[in-house]
Amino acid sequence: MNRDVIIPLDFSTRTETMDFLSLFGEKKPFVKVGMELYYAEGPQIVRDIKKLGHKIFLDLKLHDIPNTVKKAMHVLSLLDVDMCNLHAAGTIEMMKAALEGLTRPDGTKPILLAVTQLTSTSEERMRKELLINTNLNDTIRHYAMNAKMTGLDGVVCSPLEASLVKDICGKEFLTVTPGIRFADSKVDDQVRITTPAKAKEIGADYIVVGRPITAAKSPVDAYNRCVREFI
Ligand code: C5P
Repeated sequence: MNRDVIIPLDFSTRTETMDFLSLFGEKKPFVKVGMELYYAEGPQIVRDIKKLGHKIFLDLKLHDIPNTVKKAMHVLSLLDVDMCNLHAAGTIEMMKAALEGLTRPDGTKPILLAVTQLTSTSEERMRKELLINTNLNDTIRHYAMNAKMTGLDGVVCSPLEASLVKDICGKEFLTVTPGIRFADSKVDDQVRITTPAKAKEIGADYIVVGRPITAAKSPVDAYNRCVREFI
């Protein structure tokens, strides 16, 4: 079991990022680099964080024609990230192309996850704007199954969806869940939340914990508390 806590580096500059990471000294938490930091600092920030010894989830959510995604994934495989993702809505053909692009000549590849429906998409918007006329949970199950059948490793989903996904795709299919809050911490703008301990109970493999760690008086203490509750 590879359960782990992932800290999103939701910063827009190298300086803020490196200052934050230096708080952890010799400890090297698994971190997430998202669009903000990647677009601000480029691929070199990924190489530099990797050199410090961190595992990296590169959260760029690719979604384009299969050939473009295949080539982009090849480039990401050279960056030596540990985890990356795409939108399952890009179709099975796009997911297949992504896997091909990501697989290195020696057969290894980073963990590849699919985003099913973004947690910001409500069922009402899905029906009205995207013309997807099923309920949200069925869409999530269906997209997760598409990802599993294509050979992807798991999905990013809310903690409450993790058990839906595990039920249909099996225990081995990874779930990576944001929306985590300590029982006594601020909720911020997250809606469907759970605690690290509850996420463990549900069977989540990785939790992504941002502001409860990054905005804490002592980010290291908050991270250690998360690890204690989750792992
Ligand atoms: O600060 P907080 O714990 O809410 O941060 C959660 C992280 O997970 C952020 O980087 C956010 O972009 C990301 N995320 C999310 N919900 C999703 C997908 C990603 O909160 N559905």
